[in-house]
Amino acid sequence: MNVDGTHYRTVWLDGSTVKTIDQPLIPHRFEILDLADYRATADAITTMIVRGAGAIGATGAYGMAQAMLQASPDRYTEEIEEAARVLAATRPTAQNLFYGIEKVQQAIREAADYESARREAVRAAETVADEDAAACEKIGEFGAELIADGARILTHCNAGWLAFVDWGSALSPVYRAARDGKKVFVYADETRPRCQGARLTAWELCGEKIPHALIADNAAGYYMARGEIDLVIVGSDRIARNGDVANKIGTYTKAVLARRHGIPFYVAAPTTTIDFDCPTGADIPIEERHEDEVLCMWGRDADTGDVRRIRIAPAGSHALNPAFDVTPAELVTGIVTQKGVFAPADLAKNESTLRA
Ligand code: MRU
Repeated sequence: MNVDGTHYRTVWLDGSTVKTIDQPLIPHRFEILDLADYRATADAITTMIVRGAGAIGATGAYGMAQAMLQASPDRYTEEIEEAARVLAATRPTAQNLFYGIEKVQQAIREAADYESARREAVRAAETVADEDAAACEKIGEFGAELIADGARILTHCNAGWLAFVDWGSALSPVYRAARDGKKVFVYADETRPRCQGARLTAWELCGEKIPHALIADNAAGYYMARGEIDLVIVGSDRIARNGDVANKIGTYTKAVLARRHGIPFYVAAPTTTIDFDCPTGADIPIEERHEDEVLCMWGRDADTGDVRRIRIAPAGSHALNPAFDVTPAELVTGIVTQKGVFAPADLAKNESTLRA
């Protein structure tokens, strides 16, 4: 997508350097960060400099390619095993991460020698990134068909282009619909504790000139009850075989509310997010993050302009911080993929079509 007229992807490879948009700086600054080796790349995933299922999938793939480009000719097999272990240990929930790592590892395993392993690793990582961008663009086309002219859409967290390589999942249909001339309005949940909605989704929507309002996480029920939300579209970090959906904490609450008010609740995700080896949502590992993300907030000081962290809770309080929750399949109207829209209960019977 474009930032001030220049097209960017969220992550790419330049020689053996991984380059990524430094997401914690958004919306206050826009900077590109250089990640010199796979350990720096892994660290960028852990600390959420790069975040969002598809973006970390591509970053994991590029991290593996980077490890291969920097590996020694006589020990590269062991070094690549170690890189895969380090990159896979960064975040547990998003299925795309493991997909991206495995695709490059497989290419290296199948290569005849060191030189071809280097070449094939880069090719495989580029394929993971290109396919993510293409899938998200296609999700936009299928998803836009669900959006009527004048629709008011609620989304949670950031499943826009920053969360993927390009386009996004939940926001791609919104971008497509708007570019096709439909009038749309987006309610963006702020998404505590890290405020991906307030910082990233709102910034993306400003960039695309999409009319929107940021709402407190607790406000969605109010607007649903008033009949002011027509449709919910969210992303996903992992979808189980039975159609249960893991997404940013707070998604489940919105799905329950949507059902209460008879509002369609769609999940948009590339097929790389579906984990057919994971039977149900109860089997999806849910990341627990540091309590400081709940106890403190980051923002720009309205007086000095400095970006800083402030504590909002008493010094004696502790916090719990699950990063994701699981929405049961029965609350999901449809899953929008690059291969069409599927009822959650139909994923398993379409496994051969959907397995990435
Ligand atoms: O913790 P994050 O920011 O990496 O969370 C991932 C997400 O952005 C959301 O859960 C999103 O809705 C699905 S990933 C596109």
